[in-house]
Amino acid sequence: MQNFEFYNPTRIVFGQNTIEKLNSLIPKNAKVLITIGGGSVRKNGTLAEVQKALDGRHVEIFEGIEANPIFETLMKAVEKIRQENFDFILGVGGGSVMDGTKFIAGAVHCKDDPWKLVLDGGKDIQQIVPFGFVLTLPATGSEMNSNAVISRKTTEDKLPIKNELLYPVFSILDPTKTFSLPKKQVANGIIDAFVHTTEQYLTYPVNGSIQDRFAEGILLTLIEEGPKTYNNPEDYESRANFVWAATMALNGLIAAGVPEDWSTHMIGHELTILYGLDHGQTLAIVLPSLLEEMRQDKREKLLQYGKRVWGLTGYSDEKIIDEAISKTREFFESFGVKTYLHEYDIDNNAAEKVIEQLKRHHMTALGERKNITPDVSYRIVQASL
Ligand code: NZQ
Ligand code: ZN
Repeated sequence: MQNFEFYNPTRIVFGQNTIEKLNSLIPKNAKVLITIGGGSVRKNGTLAEVQKALDGRHVEIFEGIEANPIFETLMKAVEKIRQENFDFILGVGGGSVMDGTKFIAGAVHCKDDPWKLVLDGGKDIQQIVPFGFVLTLPATGSEMNSNAVISRKTTEDKLPIKNELLYPVFSILDPTKTFSLPKKQVANGIIDAFVHTTEQYLTYPVNGSIQDRFAEGILLTLIEEGPKTYNNPEDYESRANFVWAATMALNGLIAAGVPEDWSTHMIGHELTILYGLDHGQTLAIVLPSLLEEMRQDKREKLLQYGKRVWGLTGYSDEKIIDEAISKTREFFESFGVKTYLHEYDIDNNAAEKVIEQLKRHHMTALGERKNITPDVSYRIVQASL
Protein backbone atom coordinates (compact mmCIF):
# COMPACT_ATOMS: atom_id res chain seq x y z
CA MET A 1 0.00 0.00 0.00
CA GLN A 2 1.24 3.49 -0.76
CA ASN A 3 1.69 6.11 1.98
CA PHE A 4 -1.26 8.44 2.41
CA GLU A 5 -3.00 11.09 4.49
CA PHE A 6 -6.75 10.93 4.75
CA TYR A 7 -8.69 14.04 5.75
CA ASN A 8 -12.37 14.73 5.30
CA PRO A 9 -14.08 17.24 7.58
CA THR A 10 -17.55 17.31 5.97
CA ARG A 11 -20.52 16.48 8.20
CA ILE A 12 -23.07 14.31 6.39
CA VAL A 13 -26.68 14.54 7.51
CA PHE A 14 -28.48 11.67 5.77
CA GLY A 15 -32.13 10.70 5.53
CA GLN A 16 -35.73 11.78 5.17
CA ASN A 17 -36.91 15.04 6.75
CA THR A 18 -33.37 16.22 7.42
CA ILE A 19 -33.66 19.63 5.70
CA GLU A 20 -35.17 21.02 8.90
CA LYS A 21 -31.76 20.48 10.53
CA LEU A 22 -30.45 23.46 8.56
CA ASN A 23 -31.75 25.55 11.41
CA SER A 24 -29.08 24.18 13.74
CA LEU A 25 -26.38 23.71 11.09
CA ILE A 26 -26.22 27.38 10.00
CA PRO A 27 -25.57 30.10 12.60
CA LYS A 28 -28.73 32.00 13.59
CA ASN A 29 -27.21 35.38 12.77
CA ALA A 30 -25.79 34.34 9.38
CA LYS A 31 -26.67 36.30 6.25
CA VAL A 32 -27.25 33.43 3.81
CA LEU A 33 -27.04 33.34 0.02
CA ILE A 34 -28.79 30.27 -1.39
CA THR A 35 -27.37 29.22 -4.77
CA ILE A 36 -29.50 27.17 -7.16
CA GLY A 37 -29.53 25.98 -10.77
CA GLY A 38 -32.20 26.43 -13.41
CA GLY A 39 -35.21 26.02 -11.14
CA SER A 40 -35.73 22.27 -10.50
CA VAL A 41 -35.56 22.91 -6.74
CA ARG A 42 -38.36 25.45 -7.01
CA LYS A 43 -40.55 22.97 -8.89
CA ASN A 44 -40.01 20.02 -6.56
CA GLY A 45 -40.52 22.00 -3.35
CA THR A 46 -36.98 21.60 -2.01
CA LEU A 47 -36.28 25.33 -2.06
CA ALA A 48 -39.46 26.12 -0.12
CA GLU A 49 -38.49 23.55 2.51
CA VAL A 50 -35.02 25.08 2.79
CA GLN A 51 -36.43 28.59 3.14
CA LYS A 52 -38.79 27.40 5.87
CA ALA A 53 -35.93 25.80 7.79
CA LEU A 54 -33.96 29.07 7.62
CA ASP A 55 -36.88 31.20 8.74
CA GLY A 56 -35.77 34.22 10.78
CA ARG A 57 -32.45 34.65 8.97
CA HIS A 58 -31.62 37.14 6.23
CA VAL A 59 -31.76 34.90 3.15
CA GLU A 60 -31.46 35.70 -0.56
CA ILE A 61 -31.37 33.49 -3.63
CA PHE A 62 -28.90 33.44 -6.52
CA GLU A 63 -30.50 31.51 -9.38
CA GLY A 64 -29.19 30.31 -12.72
CA ILE A 65 -26.07 28.19 -12.23
CA GLU A 66 -25.92 26.15 -15.42
CA ALA A 67 -25.15 22.45 -15.85
CA ASN A 68 -21.34 22.48 -16.18
CA PRO A 69 -21.16 25.79 -14.29
CA ILE A 70 -19.91 28.80 -16.21
CA PHE A 71 -17.31 31.19 -14.80
CA GLU A 72 -19.08 34.38 -15.91
CA THR A 73 -22.35 33.37 -14.19
CA LEU A 74 -20.54 32.43 -11.00
CA MET A 75 -18.75 35.79 -10.96
CA LYS A 76 -22.13 37.52 -10.69
CA ALA A 77 -22.68 35.71 -7.38
CA VAL A 78 -19.14 36.59 -6.29
CA GLU A 79 -19.89 40.30 -6.91
CA LYS A 80 -23.17 40.06 -5.00
CA ILE A 81 -21.47 38.53 -1.98
CA ARG A 82 -18.68 41.13 -2.06
CA GLN A 83 -21.16 44.00 -2.21
CA GLU A 84 -23.73 42.71 0.26
CA ASN A 85 -21.47 40.85 2.70
CA PHE A 86 -23.12 37.45 2.88
CA ASP A 87 -21.38 35.22 5.38
CA PHE A 88 -22.75 31.76 4.47
CA ILE A 89 -23.53 30.16 1.09
CA LEU A 90 -25.97 27.27 0.82
CA GLY A 91 -25.91 25.38 -2.47
CA VAL A 92 -29.14 23.50 -3.21
CA GLY A 93 -28.81 21.27 -6.27
CA GLY A 94 -26.62 18.81 -8.15
CA GLY A 95 -22.91 18.71 -8.92
CA SER A 96 -23.03 21.88 -10.99
CA VAL A 97 -24.59 23.98 -8.23
CA MET A 98 -22.23 22.47 -5.66
CA ASP A 99 -19.12 22.97 -7.81
CA GLY A 100 -20.21 26.48 -8.76
CA THR A 101 -20.76 27.30 -5.10
CA LYS A 102 -17.28 26.07 -4.21
CA PHE A 103 -15.77 28.36 -6.81
CA ILE A 104 -17.89 31.30 -5.62
CA ALA A 105 -16.82 30.65 -2.01
CA GLY A 106 -13.16 30.58 -3.02
CA ALA A 107 -13.25 33.58 -5.35
CA VAL A 108 -14.89 36.17 -3.07
CA HIS A 109 -11.64 37.03 -1.26
CA CYS A 110 -9.41 36.67 -4.34
CA LYS A 111 -7.59 39.96 -4.99
CA ASP A 112 -6.34 38.92 -8.43
CA ASP A 113 -8.28 37.71 -11.50
CA PRO A 114 -10.35 34.75 -10.18
CA TRP A 115 -10.00 32.87 -13.48
CA LYS A 116 -6.36 32.37 -12.51
CA LEU A 117 -7.60 30.31 -9.55
CA VAL A 118 -9.06 27.90 -12.08
CA LEU A 119 -6.02 27.89 -14.36
CA ASP A 120 -3.86 27.05 -11.33
CA GLY A 121 -6.10 24.14 -10.33
CA GLY A 122 -7.44 25.89 -7.23
CA LYS A 123 -4.22 25.63 -5.23
CA ASP A 124 -4.01 29.41 -4.70
CA ILE A 125 -7.35 29.72 -2.88
CA GLN A 126 -6.42 31.25 0.49
CA GLN A 127 -9.72 32.01 2.17
CA ILE A 128 -13.34 31.00 1.64
CA VAL A 129 -16.84 32.02 2.61
CA PRO A 130 -18.19 29.02 4.57
CA PHE A 131 -20.67 26.91 2.64
CA GLY A 132 -22.88 23.83 2.92
CA PHE A 133 -25.10 21.85 0.56
CA VAL A 134 -28.49 20.27 0.14
CA LEU A 135 -27.94 17.55 -2.47
CA THR A 136 -30.56 16.87 -5.15
CA LEU A 137 -28.61 14.70 -7.62
CA PRO A 138 -26.46 11.71 -6.61
CA ALA A 139 -23.46 11.52 -8.97
CA THR A 140 -20.43 13.68 -8.45
CA GLY A 141 -19.50 13.26 -4.78
CA SER A 142 -19.02 17.03 -4.66
CA GLU A 143 -21.11 16.98 -1.47
CA MET A 144 -18.22 15.38 0.40
CA ASN A 145 -15.06 16.31 -1.48
CA SER A 146 -12.87 19.31 -2.12
CA ASN A 147 -13.07 19.31 -5.94
CA ALA A 148 -15.00 21.37 -8.45
CA VAL A 149 -15.04 21.57 -12.23
CA ILE A 150 -15.51 25.02 -13.79
CA SER A 151 -16.20 25.86 -17.43
CA ARG A 152 -15.66 28.91 -19.59
CA LYS A 153 -17.34 28.76 -22.97
CA THR A 154 -15.56 31.75 -24.49
CA THR A 155 -12.20 30.03 -24.11
CA GLU A 156 -13.48 26.42 -24.47
CA ASP A 157 -12.13 25.38 -21.08
CA LYS A 158 -13.56 22.92 -18.57
CA LEU A 159 -11.03 22.53 -15.78
CA PRO A 160 -10.86 20.88 -12.35
CA ILE A 161 -9.92 22.70 -9.15
CA LYS A 162 -9.09 21.21 -5.77
CA ASN A 163 -8.25 22.75 -2.41
CA GLU A 164 -8.65 21.55 1.18
CA LEU A 165 -10.67 24.68 1.91
CA LEU A 166 -13.34 23.47 -0.54
CA TYR A 167 -14.81 20.74 1.64
CA PRO A 168 -18.38 21.75 2.53
CA VAL A 169 -19.05 22.32 6.24
CA PHE A 170 -22.02 19.96 5.90
CA SER A 171 -24.16 18.28 3.27
CA ILE A 172 -27.75 17.23 3.70
CA LEU A 173 -28.53 14.07 1.74
CA ASP A 174 -32.28 13.45 1.72
CA PRO A 175 -32.88 10.77 -0.96
CA THR A 176 -36.51 11.88 -1.38
CA LYS A 177 -35.25 15.19 -2.79
CA THR A 178 -33.86 13.26 -5.77
CA PHE A 179 -37.17 11.54 -6.66
CA SER A 180 -38.03 14.25 -9.20
CA LEU A 181 -34.89 13.64 -11.30
CA PRO A 182 -35.45 12.87 -14.98
CA LYS A 183 -34.40 9.29 -15.81
CA LYS A 184 -31.57 10.63 -17.96
CA GLN A 185 -29.98 12.31 -14.93
CA VAL A 186 -30.34 9.16 -12.81
CA ALA A 187 -28.53 7.25 -15.58
CA ASN A 188 -25.80 9.89 -15.75
CA GLY A 189 -25.41 9.74 -11.99
CA ILE A 190 -25.07 5.96 -11.82
CA ILE A 191 -22.43 6.06 -14.56
CA ASP A 192 -20.54 8.94 -12.94
CA ALA A 193 -20.32 7.16 -9.59
CA PHE A 194 -19.33 3.91 -11.32
CA VAL A 195 -16.52 5.58 -13.27
CA HIS A 196 -15.26 7.50 -10.23
CA THR A 197 -14.85 4.10 -8.59
CA THR A 198 -13.12 2.42 -11.52
CA GLU A 199 -10.70 5.35 -11.82
CA GLN A 200 -9.47 4.65 -8.31
CA TYR A 201 -9.57 0.86 -8.71
CA LEU A 202 -8.70 -0.21 -12.27
CA THR A 203 -5.01 0.71 -12.15
CA TYR A 204 -2.32 -1.70 -10.84
CA PRO A 205 -2.32 -3.70 -7.59
CA VAL A 206 -0.56 -2.28 -4.52
CA ASN A 207 -2.05 -4.65 -1.92
CA GLY A 208 -4.68 -2.14 -0.92
CA SER A 209 -7.04 -4.92 0.15
CA ILE A 210 -9.50 -2.76 2.04
CA GLN A 211 -9.58 -0.11 -0.70
CA ASP A 212 -10.20 -2.81 -3.33
CA ARG A 213 -13.01 -4.36 -1.31
CA PHE A 214 -14.59 -0.96 -0.68
CA ALA A 215 -14.39 -0.14 -4.40
CA GLU A 216 -15.84 -3.54 -5.36
CA GLY A 217 -18.61 -2.97 -2.79
CA ILE A 218 -19.52 0.34 -4.42
CA LEU A 219 -19.47 -1.17 -7.93
CA LEU A 220 -21.57 -4.17 -6.87
CA THR A 221 -24.04 -1.86 -5.11
CA LEU A 222 -24.40 0.26 -8.26
CA ILE A 223 -24.88 -2.87 -10.37
CA GLU A 224 -27.55 -4.20 -7.99
CA GLU A 225 -29.32 -0.99 -7.02
CA GLY A 226 -28.79 1.00 -10.24
CA PRO A 227 -31.50 -0.76 -12.29
CA LYS A 228 -33.88 -0.75 -9.32
CA THR A 229 -33.56 2.95 -8.63
CA TYR A 230 -33.63 3.78 -12.35
CA ASN A 231 -36.91 1.89 -12.84
CA ASN A 232 -38.52 2.71 -9.47
CA PRO A 233 -37.37 6.22 -8.62
CA GLU A 234 -39.50 6.45 -5.48
CA ASP A 235 -38.25 3.21 -3.93
CA TYR A 236 -36.65 4.92 -0.93
CA GLU A 237 -34.32 2.10 0.13
CA SER A 238 -32.87 1.67 -3.31
CA ARG A 239 -32.43 5.42 -3.87
CA ALA A 240 -30.82 5.78 -0.44
CA ASN A 241 -28.24 3.13 -1.35
CA PHE A 242 -27.51 4.85 -4.64
CA VAL A 243 -27.09 8.25 -2.96
CA TRP A 244 -24.65 6.91 -0.39
CA ALA A 245 -22.75 4.86 -2.97
CA ALA A 246 -22.24 7.99 -5.10
CA THR A 247 -20.97 9.95 -2.11
CA MET A 248 -18.59 7.19 -1.03
CA ALA A 249 -17.26 6.83 -4.58
CA LEU A 250 -15.54 10.21 -4.46
CA ASN A 251 -14.91 11.33 -0.90
CA GLY A 252 -11.25 10.31 -0.81
CA LEU A 253 -11.70 7.03 1.06
CA ILE A 254 -11.12 4.59 -1.79
CA ALA A 255 -8.29 6.71 -3.22
CA ALA A 256 -6.22 6.59 -0.04
CA GLY A 257 -3.01 4.62 -0.59
CA VAL A 258 -3.71 3.47 -4.15
CA PRO A 259 -2.80 4.73 -7.66
CA GLU A 260 -5.43 6.76 -9.54
CA ASP A 261 -6.23 7.23 -13.21
CA TRP A 262 -8.41 10.25 -14.02
CA SER A 263 -7.89 10.08 -17.78
CA THR A 264 -11.49 9.11 -18.59
CA HIS A 265 -12.62 12.27 -16.81
CA MET A 266 -10.04 14.54 -18.40
CA ILE A 267 -10.89 13.31 -21.92
CA GLY A 268 -14.59 13.49 -21.01
CA HIS A 269 -14.34 17.13 -19.89
CA GLU A 270 -12.97 18.03 -23.33
CA LEU A 271 -15.89 16.25 -25.02
CA THR A 272 -18.34 18.22 -22.88
CA ILE A 273 -16.84 21.62 -23.61
CA LEU A 274 -16.42 20.86 -27.33
CA TYR A 275 -19.74 19.15 -28.03
CA GLY A 276 -22.05 19.85 -25.07
CA LEU A 277 -22.39 16.20 -24.06
CA ASP A 278 -23.51 15.51 -20.48
CA HIS A 279 -20.71 14.59 -18.09
CA GLY A 280 -22.08 11.04 -17.58
CA GLN A 281 -22.43 10.49 -21.34
CA THR A 282 -18.78 11.34 -21.95
CA LEU A 283 -17.67 8.80 -19.35
CA ALA A 284 -19.84 6.06 -20.86
CA ILE A 285 -18.19 6.77 -24.22
CA VAL A 286 -14.57 6.98 -23.06
CA LEU A 287 -14.19 4.32 -20.36
CA PRO A 288 -14.76 1.15 -22.46
CA SER A 289 -12.30 2.31 -25.16
CA LEU A 290 -9.78 3.37 -22.54
CA LEU A 291 -9.90 -0.01 -20.78
CA GLU A 292 -9.37 -1.73 -24.14
CA GLU A 293 -6.43 0.52 -25.05
CA MET A 294 -4.79 0.11 -21.62
CA ARG A 295 -5.62 -3.57 -21.10
CA GLN A 296 -1.99 -4.64 -20.72
CA ASP A 297 -1.15 -1.95 -18.16
CA LYS A 298 -4.36 -2.66 -16.23
CA ARG A 299 -4.27 -6.41 -16.76
CA GLU A 300 -4.16 -7.64 -13.16
CA LYS A 301 -6.86 -5.30 -11.92
CA LEU A 302 -9.05 -5.97 -14.96
CA LEU A 303 -8.89 -9.68 -14.15
CA GLN A 304 -9.75 -8.98 -10.52
CA TYR A 305 -12.63 -6.74 -11.66
CA GLY A 306 -13.92 -9.39 -14.06
CA LYS A 307 -13.84 -12.11 -11.43
CA ARG A 308 -14.98 -10.27 -8.32
CA VAL A 309 -17.38 -7.70 -9.76
CA TRP A 310 -18.82 -9.51 -12.80
CA GLY A 311 -18.39 -13.07 -11.45
CA LEU A 312 -16.46 -14.20 -14.54
CA THR A 313 -14.73 -17.52 -13.93
CA GLY A 314 -13.85 -20.55 -15.99
CA TYR A 315 -12.57 -18.56 -18.98
CA SER A 316 -9.11 -17.71 -20.26
CA ASP A 317 -7.61 -14.49 -18.89
CA GLU A 318 -8.07 -12.71 -22.24
CA LYS A 319 -11.71 -13.73 -22.38
CA ILE A 320 -12.32 -12.50 -18.81
CA ILE A 321 -10.92 -9.07 -19.76
CA ASP A 322 -12.95 -8.99 -23.00
CA GLU A 323 -16.11 -9.86 -21.10
CA ALA A 324 -15.44 -7.42 -18.26
CA ILE A 325 -15.12 -4.55 -20.75
CA SER A 326 -18.23 -5.68 -22.67
CA LYS A 327 -20.25 -5.96 -19.48
CA THR A 328 -19.19 -2.47 -18.47
CA ARG A 329 -20.42 -1.07 -21.80
CA GLU A 330 -23.66 -3.08 -21.59
CA PHE A 331 -24.25 -1.80 -18.06
CA PHE A 332 -24.05 1.81 -19.27
CA GLU A 333 -26.25 1.05 -22.29
CA SER A 334 -28.85 -0.65 -20.06
CA PHE A 335 -29.72 2.86 -18.80
CA GLY A 336 -30.32 4.11 -22.32
CA VAL A 337 -26.95 5.88 -22.52
CA LYS A 338 -25.19 5.56 -25.86
CA THR A 339 -21.50 4.64 -25.73
CA TYR A 340 -20.20 5.73 -29.15
CA LEU A 341 -19.65 9.26 -30.39
CA HIS A 342 -21.36 8.71 -33.76
CA GLU A 343 -24.57 7.94 -31.85
CA TYR A 344 -24.50 11.58 -30.72
CA ASP A 345 -23.85 12.78 -34.31
CA ILE A 346 -20.32 13.85 -33.51
CA ASP A 347 -17.95 14.31 -36.41
CA ASN A 348 -14.98 12.15 -37.29
CA ASN A 349 -12.51 14.87 -36.28
CA ALA A 350 -13.28 14.50 -32.59
CA ALA A 351 -9.98 12.79 -31.74
CA GLU A 352 -7.89 15.60 -33.30
CA LYS A 353 -9.93 18.25 -31.53
CA VAL A 354 -9.74 16.49 -28.16
CA ILE A 355 -5.99 16.09 -28.24
CA GLU A 356 -5.48 19.74 -29.20
CA GLN A 357 -7.51 20.65 -26.12
CA LEU A 358 -5.62 18.17 -23.91
CA LYS A 359 -2.29 19.64 -25.05
CA ARG A 360 -3.52 23.17 -24.39
CA HIS A 361 -4.60 22.08 -20.91
CA HIS A 362 -1.28 20.31 -20.15
CA MET A 363 -3.06 16.93 -19.92
CA THR A 364 -0.29 15.15 -21.78
CA ALA A 365 0.77 12.51 -19.24
CA LEU A 366 -2.45 11.02 -17.91
CA GLY A 367 -3.17 7.70 -16.22
CA GLU A 368 -1.74 5.87 -13.23
CA ARG A 369 1.60 5.47 -15.02
CA LYS A 370 1.47 8.88 -16.71
CA ASN A 371 1.80 7.14 -20.06
CA ILE A 372 -1.49 8.26 -21.61
CA THR A 373 0.12 10.76 -23.95
CA PRO A 374 -1.83 12.69 -26.59
CA ASP A 375 -1.14 9.85 -29.05
CA VAL A 376 -2.76 7.35 -26.70
CA SER A 377 -5.68 9.70 -26.00
CA TYR A 378 -6.08 10.04 -29.77
CA ARG A 379 -6.43 6.27 -30.15
CA ILE A 380 -8.91 6.12 -27.28
CA VAL A 381 -11.18 8.78 -28.79
CA GLN A 382 -10.76 7.33 -32.27
CA ALA A 383 -11.90 3.95 -30.94
CA SER A 384 -14.94 5.66 -29.39
CA LEU A 385 -16.18 7.09 -32.70
O1 NZQ B 1 -30.38 23.31 -12.94
P1 NZQ B 1 -31.55 22.62 -12.36
O2 NZQ B 1 -32.85 23.23 -12.72
O3 NZQ B 1 -31.43 22.40 -10.86
O4 NZQ B 1 -31.64 21.15 -13.04
C1 NZQ B 1 -30.61 20.19 -12.96
C2 NZQ B 1 -29.81 20.07 -14.26
O5 NZQ B 1 -30.60 20.40 -15.35
C3 NZQ B 1 -31.26 18.83 -12.84
N1 NZQ B 1 -31.59 18.45 -11.47
C4 NZQ B 1 -30.77 18.41 -10.38
N2 NZQ B 1 -31.44 17.93 -9.32
C5 NZQ B 1 -32.71 17.68 -9.73
C6 NZQ B 1 -32.82 18.02 -11.10
N3 NZQ B 1 -33.97 17.89 -11.79
C7 NZQ B 1 -35.05 17.41 -11.15
N4 NZQ B 1 -34.99 17.03 -9.85
C8 NZQ B 1 -33.87 17.15 -9.11
N5 NZQ B 1 -33.84 16.71 -7.84
O6 NZQ B 1 -30.28 17.94 -13.35
C9 NZQ B 1 -29.54 18.58 -14.37
C10 NZQ B 1 -28.06 18.24 -14.21
O7 NZQ B 1 -27.56 18.78 -13.02
P2 NZQ B 1 -25.99 18.87 -12.75
O8 NZQ B 1 -25.80 19.45 -11.40
O9 NZQ B 1 -25.32 19.53 -13.90
O10 NZQ B 1 -25.56 17.33 -12.77
P3 NZQ B 1 -24.42 16.56 -12.01
O11 NZQ B 1 -24.75 16.41 -10.56
O12 NZQ B 1 -24.22 15.34 -12.79
O13 NZQ B 1 -23.14 17.51 -12.07
C11 NZQ B 1 -22.33 17.56 -13.22
C12 NZQ B 1 -21.18 18.51 -13.00
O14 NZQ B 1 -20.34 18.06 -11.94
C13 NZQ B 1 -18.98 17.96 -12.41
C14 NZQ B 1 -19.17 17.65 -13.85
O15 NZQ B 1 -18.01 17.87 -14.61
C15 NZQ B 1 -20.30 18.58 -14.23
O16 NZQ B 1 -19.81 19.88 -14.44
N6 NZQ B 1 -18.23 16.99 -11.60
C16 NZQ B 1 -17.84 17.33 -10.37
C17 NZQ B 1 -17.08 16.52 -9.57
C18 NZQ B 1 -16.63 16.90 -8.21
N7 NZQ B 1 -16.93 18.09 -7.75
O17 NZQ B 1 -15.97 16.13 -7.54
C19 NZQ B 1 -16.65 15.20 -10.03
C20 NZQ B 1 -17.38 14.73 -11.23
O18 NZQ B 1 -16.51 13.85 -11.87
C21 NZQ B 1 -17.79 15.75 -12.18
O19 NZQ B 1 -16.70 16.04 -13.04
ZN1 ZN C 1 -17.46 12.47 -12.75
